[in-house]
Amino acid sequence: MFGRIDHIGVAVDDLDGAVELYSEGFGMREQHRETIEAFGVEAVLLEVGEGHVELLRPLSGDSGVGKFLERNGPGLHHVAYQTSDIDSALEQVKAAGLDLIDQEPRRGIRGSRVAFLHPKSTGGVLTELVEPVH
Ligand code: CO
Repeated sequence: MFGRIDHIGVAVDDLDGAVELYSEGFGMREQHRETIEAFGVEAVLLEVGEGHVELLRPLSGDSGVGKFLERNGPGLHHVAYQTSDIDSALEQVKAAGLDLIDQEPRRGIRGSRVAFLHPKSTGGVLTELVEPVH
């Protein structure tokens, strides 16, 4: 169902500070920056091999990432698995009894199609499915 891990999402309150940390500490280059109003975040993708780290800064306190930061502080937020067919992957996880946050894929970063699963049904790990633009 999944090709590989596409990215991990990291919640940050200081985006430029986080970019500097990953760049100077790990030599990871900023590849893409995008404000995604629908998710209430400004996001930066950093390259690591074929995968990415997705740094997420909330645009407001009442966004999902804003609430996460309020509760937990900065840190690991979600894991995203890559699929070439998100519609059938969603059907499969639904059939397996997992709780979906998104019943239908939404537009994610860089024109991808994404859907989140509820962490209550995935062992506490907020899980994203992502179908990149082909
Ligand atoms: Co993500």
